[in-house]
Amino acid sequence: MTQVHEQGYFTEENSAEVVAARNANASNERLRDCVNILVKHIHAAVKEMEPTQDEWFEAIMFLTRTGQTCNDWRQEFILLSDVTGVSMLVDAINNRKPSGASESTVLGPFHVEDAPELPMGADICLDSKGEPMLVRGRILDTKGSPIDSAKIDVWQANDEGFYDVQQKGIQPDFNLRGVFRTGPDGTYSFRAVKPKFYPIPDDGPVGQLLTRLGRHPYRPAHLHYIIEAEGFDRLVTHIFDPDDPYIHSDAVFGVKESLMAKFDLIEDPEAIRAAGFDRPFYLVEHDFVLASS
Ligand SMILES: [Fe+2]
Repeated sequence: MTQVHEQGYFTEENSAEVVAARNANASNERLRDCVNILVKHIHAAVKEMEPTQDEWFEAIMFLTRTGQTCNDWRQEFILLSDVTGVSMLVDAINNRKPSGASESTVLGPFHVEDAPELPMGADICLDSKGEPMLVRGRILDTKGSPIDSAKIDVWQANDEGFYDVQQKGIQPDFNLRGVFRTGPDGTYSFRAVKPKFYPIPDDGPVGQLLTRLGRHPYRPAHLHYIIEAEGFDRLVTHIFDPDDPYIHSDAVFGVKESLMAKFDLIEDPEAIRAAGFDRPFYLVEHDFVLASS
């Protein structure tokens, strides 16, 4: 049986339209639309790049190696999404906040679900390594009122740039992680150590790509937060050290102006005593504002 050709035969000029027409009977319209948009842009890119057959095969092999690098612990495609800015773009599209609410950034791969809930002010550093740090602030709504019973899940790298899950047997389990809950005044505080910049895993195809592009794999020092409260949007974000050497070149584009915190070195003996430390410490004060859901 002969079939009417929907858009004529495939040519260089009409390539994307011919492929899209072939997808017309898709049962899932969203899937069809997304594939057609991808085809439109990939065809446009190929027309602009005019790759040789060898170059196209090199691209295919790069994606092949990216997939082969993935396992239960390593997700190389997420890294590829991160270093091309796509992860942050998806985050931005899904977190358009009302003015005044704290901005989001990427979750990252090092969050764990079952970190212990700790009393406010607790020290989340379990191995006493690193420069002491006191972090405190308030969880507020967009009118500036404190939020009661907000859950704050925080995690960070140590002063060598590693998360506990990357150094099992070297760092104690749940080192530099904790969950805290605000009271009626909306304040939070905990003790930790000043985090350090770290590289995203760069021993695979994405790391090799970064090298060939003249880029480094580092993320500037930061603390991760997930903040949740009833009646408010969940906030997944970081705060960053503005003095970090990589603050202007985060490998995954996660830095935003509003997410800069201040890490003040406190050396006054009275203030050191009052904060419960026995040596100079970094004071980080940062408020978060949640958008109503
Ligand atoms: Fe991180």
